[in-house]
Amino acid sequence: MRDTVDKVILVFGGAGGIGAAAGARLASQGARVVIADLDGAQAEVQAARLAAEGRQATGVACDITNPQQCEHAAQAAVDRFGRLDGVVNCAGISRPHDSISLAPADWARMVDVQLNGVFYAAQACARRMWASGGAMVFITSTNAEAAFPRRAAYCAAKAGVAMLTKVLAIEWARQGIRVNAVGPAYVATEMTQRNIAAGNVDEAQIKARIPLGRLAQPGDVADAVVFLLSEQANFITGQSLYVDGGWLAYGYF
Ligand SMILES: NC(=O)c1ccc[n+]([C@@H]2O[C@H](COP(=O)([O-])OP(=O)(O)OC[C@H]3O[C@@H](n4cnc5c(N)ncnc54)[C@H](O)[C@@H]3O)[C@@H](O)[C@H]2O)c1
Repeated sequence: MRDTVDKVILVFGGAGGIGAAAGARLASQGARVVIADLDGAQAEVQAARLAAEGRQATGVACDITNPQQCEHAAQAAVDRFGRLDGVVNCAGISRPHDSISLAPADWARMVDVQLNGVFYAAQACARRMWASGGAMVFITSTNAEAAFPRRAAYCAAKAGVAMLTKVLAIEWARQGIRVNAVGPAYVATEMTQRNIAAGNVDEAQIKARIPLGRLAQPGDVADAVVFLLSEQANFITGQSLYVDGGWLAYGYF
């Protein structure tokens, strides 16, 4: 899409998985990309990989649970590229655990990364888009709508982000800041591989449950992100777009 050319896009959680795919897709379409990740070294590796392909990219360490670090990452985009036009938030963790014995610290960490951090990052970025407008996309999940066992904090946090998407969208609309979410079902990333290896996910069962018959590729999710950031989505705000191969629609058995 031509309208991503020269746009400055900050990708939280951009060192791996969906975030790396989104950053690469945006950079390949001419965007200037800032990759912010808890794993600062990997963020720089990913940025260097894009730069080696002739793209404009830089990496910065950022734990999104820390509001000051979110401010620092947003400012890094402005310092390096002069402005901030778009934000993608792909940072996340997955730690399935029985609710009955879930430790308060594990509940708190999940909500901190998957909900609080999304707000801190959005706030830091909106402060730098206030006069110029822009677009944000949060990665939620089908778990914002559908309950899975052993994922109480994850599901609650994702549902929280779906509502946060609506609140920020209506609150920041007059600043020209659009806010949307993309909710995948299972995506073939390291997060999913770790859950398969740990026995938390049965890959064959998952594929059988998805009407389109396969896991999403990170690029499938990146495509939806690019669309929602683009001018083709100029009048879309406060929405959750599910990239789930039909998972949520399916209710037969
Ligand atoms: N993989 C799936 O099947 C799937 C399905 C639905 C939703 N999601 C969501 O998509 C998002 C991306 O998942 P993924 O599969 O790409 O995961 P991933 O583990 O491959 O990548 C997540 C990235 O987030 C970073 N990160 C973790 N904690 C962070 C923090 N506190 N601050 C900044 N960065 C942090 C990691 O270092 C990593 O680079 C997550 O929010 C996840 O919940 C994933």
